[in-house]
Amino acid sequence: MLEQKYIDQVKAVNKNAYAPYSNFSVSALLVAESGAVYHGVNVENVSYGGTICAERVAITRAIADGERRFKQIFIYATDAEGGHPVTPPCGFCRQVMAEFSPDMEVVMVGADSIKRSCVRELLPHLFDDTFLK
Ligand code: THU
Repeated sequence: MLEQKYIDQVKAVNKNAYAPYSNFSVSALLVAESGAVYHGVNVENVSYGGTICAERVAITRAIADGERRFKQIFIYATDAEGGHPVTPPCGFCRQVMAEFSPDMEVVMVGADSIKRSCVRELLPHLFDDTFLK
């Protein structure tokens, strides 16, 4: 099944995360409406503020290749503390997801479980271009 392939892939690319400061490795797999797939991992920086999340790496890679609309994003993180079964996207990433595909499905993949949501549910009352002149 295609979804199982995406789940296996998002787990496999997690080893490429560059997370020497947090030791919290995150990976993302973004499925564009074209059917193309883009991977992302978190890329940290010694300045901390220069860090970019896995989700935004996948989205910016896709945008650079000409994509604009997305169907799904799979997110996977290892070594979450505090007994969290899955890792949800941060607020910045939710806003960037909303920029392109507010109806995109967000699939949070854990070691033994998955949790499904969508951008509108994760970012209620979202600020979008309808507010601008
Ligand atoms: N991180 C992500 O890559 N995605 C998220 O949705 C949560 C946070 C990264 C950023 C940083 O490198 C590390 O996880 C700890 O915050």
